[in-house]
Amino acid sequence: MAKINKGSEAPIGIFDSGLGGLTVLQAMVKLLPQESYLYFGDTAHVPYGSKSNETVLKYADQITEFLIRQKVKLIVVACNTASSVALTGLKKKYDIPIIGVVEPAVRRAAELTKSRTIGVIGTRATIRSGSYQNLIQRELPEARTIAKACPLFVSLVEEGWENTAVAREVAGVYLSDILKNGMDTLILGCTHYPVLMPTIREIVTDKVNLISSGEAVAQTVRDHLMKADLLSDNRRPSETFYITDLPQLFDELGSRFLGRRLENVKYIQPL
Ligand code: DGL
Repeated sequence: MAKINKGSEAPIGIFDSGLGGLTVLQAMVKLLPQESYLYFGDTAHVPYGSKSNETVLKYADQITEFLIRQKVKLIVVACNTASSVALTGLKKKYDIPIIGVVEPAVRRAAELTKSRTIGVIGTRATIRSGSYQNLIQRELPEARTIAKACPLFVSLVEEGWENTAVAREVAGVYLSDILKNGMDTLILGCTHYPVLMPTIREIVTDKVNLISSGEAVAQTVRDHLMKADLLSDNRRPSETFYITDLPQLFDELGSRFLGRRLENVKYIQPL
């Protein structure tokens, strides 16, 4: 097993199957601008959400090993599918802080809901895993959870089609029936979905709290680094992106989505 760098100047490792983790990275850069980041986008294997647990576990494990070899100080699993099926195993296996995206979003939802009816949308694998349903049950036993897989959302985002009539149509079909249940809080349980936030907002209106995990994850990371005395005060932090397929496309869509150029986008052979 690779050795862990305890230094505060070491980068934070963050991974996703593709672009979606950028929504988490964005929130982290906002809260922790002096940290360096090493992002791994497994675009050769996207989507994770329609694969078996065994396959997702294998990818998540290999990426974690890779990030540890790059001497990151903490890892964020910025993918709900990987967080849902692999996080527990990764935490057991590796002696490095690993933070997923499910728990922070559930905590926020439990704080906000008044009707005690919480909706969760995500990939098939995330919804099938029951990760959100179980955690909501634990946090707020009296709450009702309505879960729905929305597999087409990821393709819309990866294609850059988040603000099109097609996206609105698809969102309308997915969300209309879960809206009928008195839900006042909806967790976007997939890191790609915040890109569709304006489209989803149009459908659910402002009566529903929309929760994406980015901010909550960033706060969890900050708390953790603070406690471990590992916060960086680097004035010139760096960002590096390792992408397993079509790095130019990642660069193009990612830059558009983050509203700034991505520096240091590198191709890496799929692990
Ligand atoms: N980023 C993944 C997630 O949050 C969605 C994309 C995929 O299916 O790989 O679940």
